[in-house]
Amino acid sequence: MTDFKAKIAAYLAPAADWEAKELTQLLEIPPQAELGDYSLPCFALARRWHQAPQQIALSLQSKLSALPPYIRAIETQGPYLNIFLDPAYYIATAVSEALDIQQQPGKGSVSDQRPVIVEFSSPNIAKPFHIGHAFTTILGEALARIYTHQGYRVLRFNHLGDYGTQFGKLIVAYERWCNQAELEADPIKELNRLYVAFHQAAKEDPELEPEARLRFKRLEEGLEPETTLWKQFRDLSLREFNRLYQRLNIHFDNMNGESFYSPFIPAVVDMLQQKHLLEESEGAQIVRLDEYNLPPCMILKSDGTTIYASRDIAAILYRKKHYDFQKNLYVVGLPQSLHFQQVFAVLKKAGYACADACEHIGFGTVKFAGTKFSTREGHIIELEDLLNEAVAKSRKIIEENNQQRGGDMSAAEMDIAAERIGLGAVQYTYLRSGRERDIIFSWDDMLNFEGDTAPYLLYTYARARSILRKAGCNDLQPDPEADLNSLGSDSELQLGRLLNTFDDSVHQACQANEPFMVARHIGQLARTFNKYYGSTPILNTTDRNNRQDRLELVKACCRVLETGLNLLGIQTVDRM
Ligand code: ARG
Repeated sequence: MTDFKAKIAAYLAPAADWEAKELTQLLEIPPQAELGDYSLPCFALARRWHQAPQQIALSLQSKLSALPPYIRAIETQGPYLNIFLDPAYYIATAVSEALDIQQQPGKGSVSDQRPVIVEFSSPNIAKPFHIGHAFTTILGEALARIYTHQGYRVLRFNHLGDYGTQFGKLIVAYERWCNQAELEADPIKELNRLYVAFHQAAKEDPELEPEARLRFKRLEEGLEPETTLWKQFRDLSLREFNRLYQRLNIHFDNMNGESFYSPFIPAVVDMLQQKHLLEESEGAQIVRLDEYNLPPCMILKSDGTTIYASRDIAAILYRKKHYDFQKNLYVVGLPQSLHFQQVFAVLKKAGYACADACEHIGFGTVKFAGTKFSTREGHIIELEDLLNEAVAKSRKIIEENNQQRGGDMSAAEMDIAAERIGLGAVQYTYLRSGRERDIIFSWDDMLNFEGDTAPYLLYTYARARSILRKAGCNDLQPDPEADLNSLGSDSELQLGRLLNTFDDSVHQACQANEPFMVARHIGQLARTFNKYYGSTPILNTTDRNNRQDRLELVKACCRVLETGLNLLGIQTVDRM
């Protein structure tokens, strides 16, 4: 989309005898609309040309008498040069660019095609997929989409938690107490029960913990029956996880879990030893990180088995070697922030520059308002239950709306809409605020058709599509006959601005790893659109030219809304 700021800077550059790039940086957006769309403070110019800034502003203005079509007026106000865009030109450009079939709104291009690894989801095998794991899953997918849209080559990694002493525990519990029928029927539930049973029994029986450690050691040595059992747990769990990923339309490029990296750890240990970084401490092997103000990082336990951190170190070196990433992002909850600092610091201390390309993208905790949520496990809320309930509640609302409208939707159509709205409501709740903030779920809030919610955005979109349908436009293709000349009201300008600056929001969201910036932008667009729709006749305007142009504006809003929602992983519906 046209960068009007850069365009203005290029226009001003010769008159100011100044680099256009620098002028772009100097241009400001004034606090009030009366002061123009952009304003150039002339202080820096004044210093270089040894004149008063007021003087500079006036002389610039006099040099700029032949205005380009996109500028309506240039005025001075003391030391400022105020630039007023031509609203009609601006809106027409914004609308036609949003409807450009060659280029999706907000799409960028990046020359560095080394991959950006987005590691997210990474659930633990044999544990329920709860609403905390949903945060990394939904946030990670949104980030992957935003990076892709910006033009990066993205690889989605799932670092499955499929290793560690807990598998020793699971093997011990499995051999003693497993109920095969339950395991078949609901594997994760049964595995989780076994895990809980182990901990209960271990309180009474001091033999269990050491046995579990031994079983994990045997697993890490590739012995039987541990390896076969572990594979079975892993496959059963993956079957469940994959069902969720499919439902959320998430596909990973790499599902190497922690176990995959275990064989690479001896090489890591050698490397650390050669660099004299490894120290023995109470039988364990550690790397001291005093100079980073961090506690030491354990690499090997006293029994020689690997731990979470060492597997992460091995994973980074493996990824660097095989993928040569330009960025390696970890979408993992904030409580693991120390862990990642230590892992990155060990690599930095060992001289690996790629440590600087690794970043922990943390996020807050998730709670449910009130306790009215039935869960299978008692206290843990599973994502699947949350999704099912959100979909069921959405389905009820759609059914009521449909009845009121006289029933234009079929049952199958309502099912699809309910699935998208329900999932969207959950996804949006995770994504609408800065990621480090804690989230409190509440049904009233999440499904409020008038709040800052996915249902509101989806409803706005569907409403706009319905206007278009009534006018005979069934897709969002631009109408070659529309000249877009009649758009210029304040509310149209507001919409035009939100269309034109969608680019910036996507860009900023990517820079800050904050998908909420996209959410915020389309939220604003939807609210502005609804106001416009409430105050401006679109279908009923008598002027044919007007009607045509306004319909194009509606299409453009739809296209940007849809693109924004898709970047958050949310699918639109044309009717609801
Ligand atoms: N499986 C871990 C958990 O559920 C998260 C893994 C995060 N990724 C990593 N590379 N350490 O807590």
